[in-house]
Amino acid sequence: MFRKIAKKILTKSPKAYTAIHNNNFERTHKQDFSKLDKKSMDILLEVKKNGYVVISNFFNKEQCQKCIDDIDDMFKNNKEFVQKQEDLRIFGAEELSENIKTFFDHSLLNKLAETYNGVPTCCAFTLAGRIETLGKDAQYGSGGPWHRDSYFRQFKSMIYLNDVDENNGPFQLIHQSHETKDHDRKIAELEHMQSSFLQEKVDKIIKNNSNRLKTLTGKAGTLVLVDTSIIHRGIPVKNGIRYALTNYFFEKSQINSHLIEHFSPLVSPEKVLNMSKTE
Ligand SMILES: [Fe+2]
Repeated sequence: MFRKIAKKILTKSPKAYTAIHNNNFERTHKQDFSKLDKKSMDILLEVKKNGYVVISNFFNKEQCQKCIDDIDDMFKNNKEFVQKQEDLRIFGAEELSENIKTFFDHSLLNKLAETYNGVPTCCAFTLAGRIETLGKDAQYGSGGPWHRDSYFRQFKSMIYLNDVDENNGPFQLIHQSHETKDHDRKIAELEHMQSSFLQEKVDKIIKNNSNRLKTLTGKAGTLVLVDTSIIHRGIPVKNGIRYALTNYFFEKSQINSHLIEHFSPLVSPEKVLNMSKTE
């Protein structure tokens, strides 16, 4: 019944439909940063304002190298879990490497994710990714074309394990585009709630204000915290290799068999499914 009404509203007024969804989301995902210590609060306030924050030296060189060695190892010895997209990736790499588990388990990251999401949240798995050049005609970098992971607020943490400059696939985003959806929709003539974007549409937003295009380069150990409702992509790799880890945080209520299937093969689907049951 509700779906039928919603569909009717969507057909007649996507603007109203978007507003209803927005209101519902904000009502059920209230953020409260007041219990955080000052440092954590400042971090989340920056993510809220700009959509991201970059923190250097979160891991030291040695920790990074150990993770890289483990990733190379698992790509060789655990081929059943390796997924080939623009990059090579394993979802659930924390199950195969104690070094990667340190990132997965990190209490500060988990605390920040839950507070930012405003609902019970867990790190379901860590993605270990290695991307290298696919030739000079490569269209996409890690994660494919420009997109939002979700139209609504969502938190991710990513760490570069080797030095990342303009050449080897840095994360790139449109500053504050998690907060300026309506503004950007008008500038680039986007659909309501659109979540993937052609380059020419993103170019319109950049043309309007070139300062908004941010390329997040950084040394090994650089942490990126991001609200992935921001418009983002990985730049196609021109040369070199990029190794990175990404924690996939989900609201506990989102964890179900469909999610497992979407990311399959996960190293431990049972572990992820069980997370929806824990307090
Ligand atoms: Fe993404």
